[in-house]
Amino acid sequence: MSKKSVAVLAATGMVGQRYVSMLSDHPLFEVTTVTGHESAGKKYREALKSRGDLRISEEVGNLVVKATKPEAIDAELVFSPLPTEAASALEPRFAKRGLRVVTDASPHRMEEDVPLIIPEVNPEHLDLIEWQRRRRRWSGFLVATPNCTAAGLTLLLKPLADTLTLRRVIVSTMQAVSGAGYPGVPSLDIIDNVVPYIKDEEEKMEKEPAKMLGSVGKGGIRPSKIQISAMCHRVATTDGHLESAYIETEERVDLDEIRAALSGFRGLPQELRLPTAPSNPIIVMEQEDRPQVKLDRYAGDVQGMSVVAGRIRRGLDNRSFRLTFLSHNTIRGAAGSTILAAELMQSKGLLD
Ligand SMILES: NC(=O)c1ccc[n+]([C@@H]2O[C@H](COP(=O)([O-])OP(=O)(O)OC[C@H]3O[C@@H](n4cnc5c(N)ncnc54)[C@H](OP(=O)(O)O)[C@@H]3O)[C@@H](O)[C@H]2O)c1
Repeated sequence: MSKKSVAVLAATGMVGQRYVSMLSDHPLFEVTTVTGHESAGKKYREALKSRGDLRISEEVGNLVVKATKPEAIDAELVFSPLPTEAASALEPRFAKRGLRVVTDASPHRMEEDVPLIIPEVNPEHLDLIEWQRRRRRWSGFLVATPNCTAAGLTLLLKPLADTLTLRRVIVSTMQAVSGAGYPGVPSLDIIDNVVPYIKDEEEKMEKEPAKMLGSVGKGGIRPSKIQISAMCHRVATTDGHLESAYIETEERVDLDEIRAALSGFRGLPQELRLPTAPSNPIIVMEQEDRPQVKLDRYAGDVQGMSVVAGRIRRGLDNRSFRLTFLSHNTIRGAAGSTILAAELMQSKGLLD
């Protein structure tokens, strides 16, 4: 089977580089176009500002970075980690011109006919695509993946929501600097520091999981009734967002059942054996001081694609519990989830 041609927009950014690296030996997709803004016209390899640890193939390294315009794209699929403002204006233009766009950016995530996808959580929400194309008279389409902290949280909540009635989730995050892009947070603001504010992050964490955990019907998504309160912090780690959650349920909680539900969870990508699907979407660690960012962010058989959970313990009463979990922000929180979503779309014939 020949590979599908892929364009990576904003390919010189933190997420864009992660795409190029993850797609360097991908069995289904091949990067044929890279775009940027200030780096347009340069060779891709020469336009990169950071991150020597990523894999860039000879061919992609030699591509010339194009300006980010629909007419510059000759590809069957577009990955879009564009900055917010550019994504807001450009992504609908790309879809209108017939391009199939999967985006990591936030502006269109909560629109009622835009599927917001974590492949293991809500693959059936891809059914919205048909409605979206009809309503907007687009020959292409737009699919979104969630905010990087919402991605880890929602994947973790899915097997719990399947077996329990989740009432409230109170979650506090410790988020790596790569989440702010490049060059991101000035070094003098973050070294020896924790910043208890990330613009718009708490709002995204509080809204996006309810959409993804909701059910899809004729009039769009009916969101889950789950209530989430988020407190977000930027900390001086490079990659990997750590989150601590306090979860209240309607039913009495059995901690062993929680551990079993998390570690036994498998989704459609695992059933279909998609190339970027980890065998265990959620890994449960038993050691009392894990997960740790430095030790566990690449745990599992597809590096960076598993959420790693631990410290599962009782809350204030027998209808609550606490836990800590870790997910890699540019992989499970961005490029990795989006590539997995595209693999799922390919398996459903949505890229034919
Ligand atoms: N970082 C994360 O962990 C993460 C996780 C989930 C989602 N996201 C989302 O992904 C997107 C990208 O984040 P990032 O961290 O990769 O940012 P970044 O490192 O700051 O990269 C920005 C990229 O956007 C390009 N760019 C800047 N202005 C542009 C414009 N007007 N039109 C087209 N391209 C433009 C830049 O190209 P030049 O270098 O050529 O100027 C560069 O490639 C954002 O929407 C972010 O919210 C990020």
